[in-house]
Amino acid sequence: MGSTRAVFLPLLLLAFQSLILSCCSASPKGPLSLIENVYQLGDSTADAGNLIRITGSNSEDKVSARLPYGETLGKPTDRFSDGLLMVDYITRALGLPLLNPSLARNRSFEHGANFAVGGSTVLNSSFYKAKNVAVPATNTPLRAQLQWLRSFLNSTCKSLSDCAERLRRSLVIVGEMGSNDFFLSFLQGKSIREYRNNLVRSALASLRREFPRATVLFGDYYGGYQHILRNGSHLGFDRSSRLKACCGTGGPYNVNISASCGSPGVPVCPDPSRFISWDGLHLTQEAHRRITEFILDQISPGLIRAT
Ligand SMILES: *[C@@H]1O[C@H](CO)[C@@H](O)[C@H](O)[C@H]1NC(C)=O
Ligand SMILES: *[C@@H]1O[C@H](CO)[C@@H](O)[C@H](O)[C@H]1NC(C)=O
Ligand SMILES: *[C@@H]1O[C@H](CO)[C@@H](O)[C@H](O)[C@H]1NC(C)=O
Ligand SMILES: *[C@@H]1O[C@H](CO)[C@@H](O)[C@H](O)[C@H]1NC(C)=O
Ligand SMILES: *[C@@H]1O[C@H](CO)[C@@H](O)[C@H](O)[C@H]1NC(C)=O
Repeated sequence: MGSTRAVFLPLLLLAFQSLILSCCSASPKGPLSLIENVYQLGDSTADAGNLIRITGSNSEDKVSARLPYGETLGKPTDRFSDGLLMVDYITRALGLPLLNPSLARNRSFEHGANFAVGGSTVLNSSFYKAKNVAVPATNTPLRAQLQWLRSFLNSTCKSLSDCAERLRRSLVIVGEMGSNDFFLSFLQGKSIREYRNNLVRSALASLRREFPRATVLFGDYYGGYQHILRNGSHLGFDRSSRLKACCGTGGPYNVNISASCGSPGVPVCPDPSRFISWDGLHLTQEAHRRITEFILDQISPGLIRAT
């Protein structure tokens, strides 16, 4: 294929690097304006309402559908933050509407879909079961989400060539993803060393299988996070609470898993935009905005080269 457009994927893997996958081609007229569809795969850092629609997910999983989640937007939007996520800032930068969660019925998927599900791992559940590590009820690892993407394209493209044409004008974002793989093993006292290579190899293999003609690039989500952590006060974050959750209580980090954000009586800071961490696990809208800025700056040259 000639020039490329489309696809990048920040994917949080063990080194907390992002993985950017750049695909396909088109006539060069300003790379970003040529992207018409975005497909997101990932975990709660990108979930815009899939987890709450999966039966079997428990009420704790549904906090994203209740205040204070979403408070910066004036209402809960099923996102695990006070407001928008990185994927929202990316679609906004492309001039596209926010992506609807793929499990929502009767919504528009004209410009792509969000397949991310909170709690998802990169590796198959079978990998964990074999190691006696309990897995979340929602069995939606990267591989399952890729299958959703495949079926989605199969059921919405008019033909193979229509699909190819659409992917040429698409950005596929994978990640941040991989942190749940670590949590699972860590919380259950298993060694995490062996997961490391498995994660990267498995994620890359899946992606290369799925997008054989795509270019895979790495972007640095963790670097973006470090950047705002180190340089927080220049960026408007409150220095004294840079490691504290805005929503939460107790301990040096304002986090207590027995009294987490969204539980009765758990306080919320007056101004989430001064905080990096929203609830101890997820970041604030402002942190998402800043990290997206950082990542877009970083990957733009690669994207343009690929266009
Ligand atoms: C689905 O969306 C259409 C158009 O927005 C609307 O007319 C219809 O009532 C909706 N159906 C349901 C079940 O929400
Ligand atoms: C994941 O599971 C599927 C089917 O259960 C299998 O075909 C695939 O090879 C597995 N992938 C990995 C990376 O283990
Ligand atoms: C695409 O969908 C058709 C009709 O539902 C089905 O028969 C076919 O197996 C699907 N192909 C793929 C590659 O999923
Ligand atoms: C922090 O931000 C300021 C203002 O944007 C910038 O000049 C400086 O280079 C940044 N420092 C680091 C370490 O990123
Ligand atoms: C965490 O919350 C539980 C339940 O509210 C409480 O009993 C416990 O003392 C809290 N721990 C800390 C360190 O604040």
